[in-house]
Amino acid sequence: MAPESKPSAQETIDALPTAKRVALLNRNDRIFHVILAQQFDRETIDRLCKLAEMMRNIAETRQGLQFLRTLLSHKRAMLYFIQPSTRTFLSFAAACQILGIAYDEVRNPSVSSEIKGETEDDTVRVLSQYFNLIIMRHPTEGFAEQMAHDLDALHLSIPIINGGSGQDQHPTQAMLDIYTLHRCFGRTAIERGNLDFSQNRFEGKTITFVGDLRRGRTVRSLAYLLCRYPGVRMIFVAPQELQISDDILEYLARHDVAYEHSDDLSAVVARSDAIYMTRLQDEYDIAGESKKIDYDRFRLTAEMAPQFKPDLAIMHPLPRRNEIDRQLDTDPRARYFHQVQNGMWMRAAMIAYVFHVDAAVIDHYQSHFAH
Ligand code: NCD
Repeated sequence: MAPESKPSAQETIDALPTAKRVALLNRNDRIFHVILAQQFDRETIDRLCKLAEMMRNIAETRQGLQFLRTLLSHKRAMLYFIQPSTRTFLSFAAACQILGIAYDEVRNPSVSSEIKGETEDDTVRVLSQYFNLIIMRHPTEGFAEQMAHDLDALHLSIPIINGGSGQDQHPTQAMLDIYTLHRCFGRTAIERGNLDFSQNRFEGKTITFVGDLRRGRTVRSLAYLLCRYPGVRMIFVAPQELQISDDILEYLARHDVAYEHSDDLSAVVARSDAIYMTRLQDEYDIAGESKKIDYDRFRLTAEMAPQFKPDLAIMHPLPRRNEIDRQLDTDPRARYFHQVQNGMWMRAAMIAYVFHVDAAVIDHYQSHFAH
């Protein structure tokens, strides 16, 4: 087949219904490749939040940390991050270290054999010969998913974890965001050692997303996850050109989730239980179109603080430009640096789950912490 007649990764995948895509990425009703937020049902989200919380408690002692480090010390991971990243990369690297996984990295395709004309598919196939897990950030949506199918077709049992796929999805970020929201809305219970994440802490809550919602993959993935919580409401605040895409709104409507649009942040701040700020994703501009947008209207400012709810969660996947006034950093409602740490524990939990050592973590926790 001539290369130009080959359908793109996204075209091949778009032709499949979501349920089929999810089924192909799972094994025995359990997530194997972590690619899409739609793979996570409530039970899996609850289980992973609980696991993350258990792991961070276990890690508080030297003996606990040593236990975690033995869990996957026979595994090797490749961090194939060919789109810029600091925190997601470091977060996965730290998660691997917590579990004793040796990891290596490819971050710059210009120093890999791709420069000699090797296709990216071949590069990933080669990586699969050295490693037991591939964690991937890639600018093309659908690439991680296509590679998951590709490795399956080669009968390789190597999970792929999506660390950000173009403008489409960022499921591990969404999972850490859900975990952060649980820790905000259920703070008192969790601090008292109640690790029941199965209750719906989102009922009656309003989550407001602000900024470049069309191209921000974190927002898309988190919107999918929030649909698992009946009674949640979402507000999408963005310039018209960057409003959330119709495919997400259709998904919300199918799941009976209430939502509204706005282009005036100050008008919705007082009603919000969480405000999720995002930066302009101008690396995806085709002809500098973002320059025409007045993004300053989509900043969270210290002047708005008197309107905030007392328990508001201010969130941002980071990196931040100036979407959040720095004066707000010391406000206890600012949760964006907590998100970073929660991300490390959530990613460690997700890797433990993928390799089926979650039961060992739960056993350890129960024998050392349960009263
Ligand atoms: C986000 C991303 O890469 O999508 N960053 C992250 O992973 N924490 C958000 C962004 O780059 O704006």
